[in-house]
Amino acid sequence: MNVRVAKITEELYILRLDDDRKRYFEGIWRITEGVTYNSYVLLTREGAVVFDTWDVQYADLFVDTLQRVVDLRDVKILVTHHSEPDHSGAVPKLLERRGRELRVLGHPMAGEILKHFYGVRDMNFVPVKDNDLLSVGGYTLRFIHTPMLHWPDTIMTYIPQLGVLLTCDAFGSFSTPEGIFDDELKNMDEYLAATREYAVSIVGKYREFIAKAVDKLRGMGVSPRIVAPAHGVVWRTRPEFIIDYYCKISDGSLLDARKVLILYCSMYGLKNNIVEELSKRLRDERYNTVLLKFSYDEHAPPGRVLGELFDSALVIVITSTYEGGLYPPLMHILDLVKVKVRLPKKTVGVISYGWTSPRDLFEKALREAGLDVVDIIDFRGQGTAEIVERILRSVSRALSS
Ligand code: FEO
Repeated sequence: MNVRVAKITEELYILRLDDDRKRYFEGIWRITEGVTYNSYVLLTREGAVVFDTWDVQYADLFVDTLQRVVDLRDVKILVTHHSEPDHSGAVPKLLERRGRELRVLGHPMAGEILKHFYGVRDMNFVPVKDNDLLSVGGYTLRFIHTPMLHWPDTIMTYIPQLGVLLTCDAFGSFSTPEGIFDDELKNMDEYLAATREYAVSIVGKYREFIAKAVDKLRGMGVSPRIVAPAHGVVWRTRPEFIIDYYCKISDGSLLDARKVLILYCSMYGLKNNIVEELSKRLRDERYNTVLLKFSYDEHAPPGRVLGELFDSALVIVITSTYEGGLYPPLMHILDLVKVKVRLPKKTVGVISYGWTSPRDLFEKALREAGLDVVDIIDFRGQGTAEIVERILRSVSRALSS
């Protein structure tokens, strides 16, 4: 756990909590590199405006941290961009301290959600309409409805005097980078892998809404110098880069033409030999192979599978059967792929069976997940060198078509 307080501009602070304790984001997504919750505080001559808070587990810590930047009596406005409890968690604590003197602004739906989530009875909630403007101490807050990023209640705030767009979940990422800003990232590829993992697993179902929001912002003439999301780094050097990256996620065009994901599901590791040989042969042919496993020694984080699948040119699914049917961890992943990825990725399916081959069931499950099945290879028990050659022929055909 690490609390960070830094200036984004002279007047705008970030309060960032690096959470390395949470194991399952949303109680679903196993995260291995943590997540940040970013709140922002604008100091004006008419008092302070707080934008979002932290996860509900850290409400007291949030209030303590906020007091390092401003006297609570000077906090006049709280903007809730999105009422999910990873951002709204400290709203009840702030209301306890400030009562009705604190104006809580948000999408009309957010007021209802907050009341029901936290049992709040007496809140000075002010619903904001799309494109509402509010002047506070020399600054303009422009509220923009950006539904489904990632709930219907989501809004963004643009502060034209600072060129800052506060975007909540959009343009965010998993992981807890050492730096606050994009230009401080030590390994951009790793950060973008965490960004894909986050974006596909959290916003994937609604990814078309990213492009809609970006079109809307551009249509309104909003061209931010700084993109400040509620998770991950603040983009002050290349805001257009992260916007474009998210737009490619939105339209599904993010693609690494040399990337092959091997998704390996095995109860006992009987196919380790073919997976190792296949990985080596693909690497020898200068393919960027990513191997993710569900087996006796390791279960890949499901969000990582979605993120790595999303920009792969092809996926090879190598799996055991289970009690005559499909291996349950694979069925779970395919359910998530269907809902969150929604891309016809070229797929070579490889299934090893003990009793009888559920080949048709396997192919149907892959197709129902939205995948473009180019071949199914089935065999009994251990793989052989001949099976590796068959897989490589299928991969080569698929990647050249
Ligand atoms: Fe980071 Fe949808 O909350």
